[in-house]
Amino acid sequence: MNKGQRLLKQAKKILPGGNQLLSKRAEMFAPNLWPTYFLKAKGCEIWDLENKKYLDFAGMGVTACLLGYANEYVNKKVKLAIDKANLTTLNSEDEIKLAKKLINIHRWAEMVKFCKSGGEACLVAIRLARSYIDKQNIAFCGYHGWHDWYLSANLNNTGNLDKQLLPGLKALGVNKNFAKTMFPFFYNDISSLKKILVKKNNIGIIIMEPMKFSKPKKNFLKKVRSLANKNNLILIFDEITSGFHNNYGGLHLTLGVNPDLAIFGKAMGNGYPISAIIGKKKIMNKANETFISSTMWTEQIGFVAANATLEFFKKA
Ligand SMILES: Cc1ncc(COP(=O)(O)O)c(C=O)c1O
Repeated sequence: MNKGQRLLKQAKKILPGGNQLLSKRAEMFAPNLWPTYFLKAKGCEIWDLENKKYLDFAGMGVTACLLGYANEYVNKKVKLAIDKANLTTLNSEDEIKLAKKLINIHRWAEMVKFCKSGGEACLVAIRLARSYIDKQNIAFCGYHGWHDWYLSANLNNTGNLDKQLLPGLKALGVNKNFAKTMFPFFYNDISSLKKILVKKNNIGIIIMEPMKFSKPKKNFLKKVRSLANKNNLILIFDEITSGFHNNYGGLHLTLGVNPDLAIFGKAMGNGYPISAIIGKKKIMNKANETFISSTMWTEQIGFVAANATLEFFKKA
């Protein structure tokens, strides 16, 4: 048994599941063999606890570290920021700098709200959308995080999430009153969306990734946009995985369809915790009326790392 596996055995006694992220579980890759823990990583290379070097074939930190591990340009800026202090009572000007960059890239967006993880940003986006619109139910396509509104899709039909990314998710611990608030549809299948947009479903929000495994066919995205317009729905693009991977910004820029809100995470900070919701002022400003707040949302490493990452992308 390798050192990583021995450590994982100990971890499972004190950390439920051994580690915190479903898609990093050793059991998903090579049970009993997976190195599990890293000593160091640089570029696309990673060393396990026995100092054995691997090429990272498992997605560069679940697609977050697009510039490679320990990118010198990003790390230099982060180190400088840490030495000046990270979280203080005052704000970091890097927050505004990053907001301006995102609005500049996505000219349809007027405001930005930052948080730390992708799932958290999806939670915020849905709160803002539900604060703005009377119709509270959600049409969704794809994976959007671990939280109650997403998992509640499996309350009335335990298979609702099966074809979206992760089969077999249990809605354990989710308030049963949330049942029948989430309605799945499928990518490139406009009829699956039309079918659920009926009055009794009370759908006010569509959330989806602009692209997942295949390109939009037969004007799929344009048709989603026009259904949203026709039915007065808020359209949210979850760009947590697609953003900054193929182009400088959200993939929707390349695909030629703008949402009302878009969500970014992962590659935007090259592995440092930062996520963002960008969107139309009338919806974003609902953040002043509902209650959304976290002490850690203003720590500055995330902003500094994202500004550096975006500068690096732009130069590349
Ligand atoms: C499209 C999409 N939305 C949301 C999430 C959740 O993001 P996070 O794992 O940072 O909470 C992911 C993560 O894989 C994702 O791919």
